[in-house]
Order: sequence, then C-alpha cells, then structure tokens
Amino acid sequence: MDKQRDVAVLIGSLRKDSINRKLANALVQLAPSALKLGFVEIGGLPFYNQDDDANPPIAWTQFRASIKAADAVLFVTPEYNRSVPAALKNALDVGSRPYGQNVWSGKPGAVVSASPSGIGGFGANHHLRQSLVFLNVPAMQQPEAYIGAADKLFDTNGELANDSTRKFLQQFMQAFADWIATNIKS
Ligand code: FNR
Repeated sequence: MDKQRDVAVLIGSLRKDSINRKLANALVQLAPSALKLGFVEIGGLPFYNQDDDANPPIAWTQFRASIKAADAVLFVTPEYNRSVPAALKNALDVGSRPYGQNVWSGKPGAVVSASPSGIGGFGANHHLRQSLVFLNVPAMQQPEAYIGAADKLFDTNGELANDSTRKFLQQFMQAFADWIATNIKS
C-alpha cells in the first residue's frame, strides 16, 4: 500500500442533523485504507478580518495548523442560494491569509455536494471549485459528485441506506485516493 494520506474533511453545514455531515460520515467508512479522514470543524471560526492578521484569533491559528498538517482536503457541502455556505467560504478565506501564507496551496482536493433537490448542490460545488483554482488546490474533476434527493439516502440511525449511492461513493473515494497519489507534492 502507498503511504497513508491524511485528509482534512470540511463540512459546509453547521447544523446538528446535517445531511452533508451524514454523507461525510459515510465517506469516512467507504474510503480506502490509503486515506485517513479527519474532520476539521469550521463553525467556531470568527469572520475573517484583515485587521487581525498581525494578532489572529486562536481559532484561526488552530484551523490553519490543521489544514497545513493534512495531505489533502475533502469538501462536503450543501448549496445555499446557489452558492457556497458563508461558513465554508469564511474557512477558505481564513486559510488563505495572511497574504503569501495560503495553507491550501498544493493540497489535492475533492468536492461533494448534496441537497434534497434534484441538482444536488451543483451551484455550490462549482462556486467552490472557482475558489479552489485561486487557492491552488488541484481539485479532482472526475467523478463529479452532485448528490440529489440526499434527504432520502439515510436511515433513522443516519446510516447510508442506498446501495447504488454506496457503490458510487466508494468509487469516488478510490478515485480521490488515486488523485492524491498522483498530485501530492511530497
Ligand atoms: C438552502 N437550501 C438550498 N438547496 C438547494 O439545493 N439549493 C439552494 O440554493 C439552497 N439554498 C438554501 C439556502 C439556505 C440559507 C438554506 C438554509 C437552505 C436547502 C438545503 O439544501 C437543505 O436545507 C439541506 O438540508 C442543507 O444541508 P444540510 O444542512 O442538511 O447538510
């Protein structure tokens, strides 16, 4: 087996019963052994403010260190008003600064979006990809993961209860492992 890679998982929803968090939990279970997934929480990050660059809140410093320590990043997000939830955009911004110290740079990434609606968070997925270009995150192109009708995928225990989605997500995580192996710098 190739060296095991640490993947920071960021969830775009802050709510307790989040579909995207359930999906992220499923992805942890379905990931190949080449990947070690760990959640990095974004809900406690104060809004990015450039005035605080010289004396940053501890939550920013810890968050930046967590991303720096990871080999790769996986985003699992809902769509808010056809875009990325503010909490996730804030996390991207916090990690990108101070200028010249972008912690995302060079880390292979992947994006999964999920929604109860049919288009599976496509808008959020692609707005996120736009930021990832500037942040220098090589984001996996295929397979794309827009998980629609996602409110129907989980049983009352929050476990994935759909075999074809399980198979797709397993393939997605294997492709991501391959993507990381190909694109990682060290
Ligand atoms: C939404 N929702 C939503 N869904 C969608 O497919 N496209 C959208 O643009 C939006 N916009 C939107 C804005 C805001 C502010 C909220 C709170 C919700 C619905 C959303 O997909 C649904 O609430 C999901 O359940 C949110 O994901 P989590 O929290 O379950 O992971």
